[in-house]
Amino acid sequence: LDNGLGKTPPMGWNSWNRYTCDINETVILNNAEAMKELGLLKLGYNYVIMDDCWSKRQRDPKTGRIVPDPEKFPNGIENMIEKIHNMGFNFGMYSSAGKYTCAGYPGSLGHEEIDAKMFAEWKIDYLKYDNCFNQGRSGSPLISYQRYEAMSDALNKTGHPIFYALCQWGEDQVWNWASTIANSWRVTGDIYDNFNRYDIRCPCETYDCPSLQGYHCSIMNIVNKATPLVQKAGPNSGWGDMDMLEVGNGGMSFDEYITHFTMWAILKSPMILGNDVSSMSREHLAIVSNPDVIAVNQDVGSAPANRMWKKHFVDGFVHLFSGSLSNGDWVVAVVNEATEPLLEMNIAFSDIFTDNHDNEKYTWVAKDLWTKETTTAARYLTANVVPHGTQVWRLQKSMHLSHNKNYWVS
Ligand code: DGJ
Repeated sequence: LDNGLGKTPPMGWNSWNRYTCDINETVILNNAEAMKELGLLKLGYNYVIMDDCWSKRQRDPKTGRIVPDPEKFPNGIENMIEKIHNMGFNFGMYSSAGKYTCAGYPGSLGHEEIDAKMFAEWKIDYLKYDNCFNQGRSGSPLISYQRYEAMSDALNKTGHPIFYALCQWGEDQVWNWASTIANSWRVTGDIYDNFNRYDIRCPCETYDCPSLQGYHCSIMNIVNKATPLVQKAGPNSGWGDMDMLEVGNGGMSFDEYITHFTMWAILKSPMILGNDVSSMSREHLAIVSNPDVIAVNQDVGSAPANRMWKKHFVDGFVHLFSGSLSNGDWVVAVVNEATEPLLEMNIAFSDIFTDNHDNEKYTWVAKDLWTKETTTAARYLTANVVPHGTQVWRLQKSMHLSHNKNYWVS
């Protein structure tokens, strides 16, 4: 969608993963303040997004407008939005392309114009638009497209720039039709704070999953499903949204959160924190504050990385990802899904630089983006990855091998 927004994937915070419906003014403002104090705003996390459950159960019978819950927002929602803006953040709201939101509050289907007008009056900067209670208006790309297009048009009509985030869980091949109407589009069902559980009863493709209350996409489940789908993403097509981050919510180990954060970054997913920022540990803060990893996500003009291969290793898989960056650098990541450390695996340059074999004839300076160690590599990189962890490098082109007599050149 060409509304001038989303030149890079959005970064910010959303209330849902940590608080679900338990939100109010204090929760939102405290998290925004913590983000600012901890330097997260400066690092680029500049959207504060309030998810489901912010309104009363009924629209105002006289005006037809959705009414913010006065108990949750005793000083009014506009007052809170103003405070968020004054802190230097953009503000995001939530509604659903359905009769109700997923939690049963009024949705915007059939009320697109009046709701968009109200959101613009409130000066919101982002709208997450969900898929529940869609009255059967799904099941084909065209039907879903029309339902989401109605809000896109209504938002555009307001003249106020609003980042439009589709939350359609990857249904009806959203990656094929969202680019002209949205700035981002969800590609999977809901994330849950788990590394690689694959639930056969509740595949990640579907949203409704009573046994896990809608949460059934583990991190590796999402990576596997999303990798081919997010390849359509870009500044003019919107970003493939792999759902909000779980770093800091406690369900995964440090190394698993490293994998989660790295993969979201290099696949150019939106990077929306989903934890209680005000109480997060220093370790978790360090993960989401890694400027080198953020720089890959926010690199202007480069495409998402892609998977080069996936191989069995002990009791899991090893995955190789690579992608080019706009200044000619490359990003390379090795994920170790096994419970054993991956020691000294050589990753051939021919597996990394698939589209330009001339690159293989150079030495590359490789910076490990987590340890910050720098090595010079020729012909291959040596990976050394802890269980469930990820090693990621940024490669900078160095010297042609023919200029260096120590390397034989074919
Ligand atoms: C389903 C979405 O996928 C979630 O991210 C969240 O917004 C909930 N709905 C809210 O009910």
